[in-house]
Amino acid sequence: MPPGLKHSLPFYAFRPWVKLGSPILLFEHLLKTYGNIAHYKFMGTPIVFINDPDYIREILINQASSFVKERTVRRMKILLGEGLITSDDPIHKRQRRIAAPAFHRQRIAAYGDRIVACAASQRETWRPGQHIDIAAASMSLSLEIVARTLFDTAVTDDIRSINDEVNTIMGLYNFIVAFPKIESFLHLPIPGLMKFRRSKARLDAIVDRLIREHRETGIDKGDLLSMLLASTYEPTEADEPPPATQGSPTTQGSPATQRSPDTQGLSGTQGLSATRGLSVGLQPHESTSATKGALAPGLSSSRPPKLEGMSDEQIRDEVLTIFLAGYETVANGLTWTWYLLSQNPHVEAKLHAELDAVLGKRLPTLADYPSLRYTEQIFAESMRLYPPAWAMGRMSTQPVELGPYRIPPGAHFFFSQYIMGRDPQYFPDPLRFDPDRFTPEAKSARPKFAYFPFGGGNRQCIGESFAWMEGVFGIATIAQRWRMSYLGATTPEVQAKITLRPKDPLMMQLTPR
Ligand code: HEM
Repeated sequence: MPPGLKHSLPFYAFRPWVKLGSPILLFEHLLKTYGNIAHYKFMGTPIVFINDPDYIREILINQASSFVKERTVRRMKILLGEGLITSDDPIHKRQRRIAAPAFHRQRIAAYGDRIVACAASQRETWRPGQHIDIAAASMSLSLEIVARTLFDTAVTDDIRSINDEVNTIMGLYNFIVAFPKIESFLHLPIPGLMKFRRSKARLDAIVDRLIREHRETGIDKGDLLSMLLASTYEPTEADEPPPATQGSPTTQGSPATQRSPDTQGLSGTQGLSATRGLSVGLQPHESTSATKGALAPGLSSSRPPKLEGMSDEQIRDEVLTIFLAGYETVANGLTWTWYLLSQNPHVEAKLHAELDAVLGKRLPTLADYPSLRYTEQIFAESMRLYPPAWAMGRMSTQPVELGPYRIPPGAHFFFSQYIMGRDPQYFPDPLRFDPDRFTPEAKSARPKFAYFPFGGGNRQCIGESFAWMEGVFGIATIAQRWRMSYLGATTPEVQAKITLRPKDPLMMQLTPR
């Protein structure tokens, strides 16, 4: 095992770096004391904390078939079922292929207009001199965008109820995660579980009804749900459950999902045309159509392809997954960006210059995306300092080799976008907000997994392109019209919950531009 804490974590309960609900302190301590790979134990489970881009690549790509999601994520199956975040192969592989077209470039393009429309309508509600909590405002913008792009609706009572029930359940997250074998006890009259059951039943009823209504109209409304309902794929031999010996790591995922995380951004390599640029970050829709042309062994060309779609229950799992994964993450990304801009007037001035040159007074459209390079760099740099997904984890199902260490199955592995993003080895003078760290040259000078806000490998965020578009168009549309001055007296404190949020309201004063 790598170096690390001699005793189980509770033994250190009174050390300043052990604080319930603040694993960032523990991770910082491990990195400082033991270096880029360290271990500790909790309730008998070996846990390895990693802050090394090469080891992260091993876990997410090279040895990906030796891992599944770690325990706290797997526990969320009681909410998200076998959705994309919680499922394992072969279910995950199948779901990912069916869901991919919903995130395909033409669809993303259509979502772009809706994102801009939502941001434009929010900016019209604000008044000069007004004080707003930008965290709350970004959440409400993101909810509006989820409603429009996932369900093709405004924020109705249904959407508010989905939001409320998801919040209730996420409020129970620590309880759910700590409850051993929770799946077997769900029916018991334990207060936390009863609350969970009631919320989950209400959630299911609303989402089921929205799915039914969408199915009944049979119209593609241009939203994600219509696309999930229409998506089918033709199973290939590769979709069969792997043999007992497990497939080789190289068969995991597709080349499209294994691209480098540090070439992120919708425009990826700067200067690409809008259409080519948008293909960066898109998922293996192309490979789906490619496999359609190929005949599985044993099939004659006269036999019609067997197309599979998702059941309503699977769609419900995916809808909840996308809601959870795509709403708070982007909202927090925007919140921290506004804070950082308010503290860095020279960056803000460059942003305004780009917006004036590219857009003038008109709203952004998809064709503008590749020209909004500095805006994209700002969002990238903001997610370095304040990554909405601040840590990720896996559990090994087979022995894993990381450098000189051989780690047994059943170990948990964590790595943190927050810790890596502040490591001076990869980001000199790390607390300085400098979007020029994300020029193509600067990115290519860094190891690939020194920056991984969207993860990597076959579980890489399927909504990455969507998130870039929401971030960039959200910043552009609002900054065209408003400047924000931070009203707090101190640096806002972070709260590392499921996403990285500000602990308190983040008050801003609005000045028109
Ligand atoms: C700034 C915004 C976002 C960030 C930072 C983010 C981050 C991530 C990360 C790190 C993962 C990988 C987790 C892991 O491998 O353990 C992930 C997965 C995922 N994200 Fe995102 N995400 C964002 C926005 C979105 C949006 C907008 C959507 C949907 C519209 C979305 C949907 C998903 C889904 C479905 C997965 C699971 C993918 C799979 O395992 O196949 N995310 N996200």
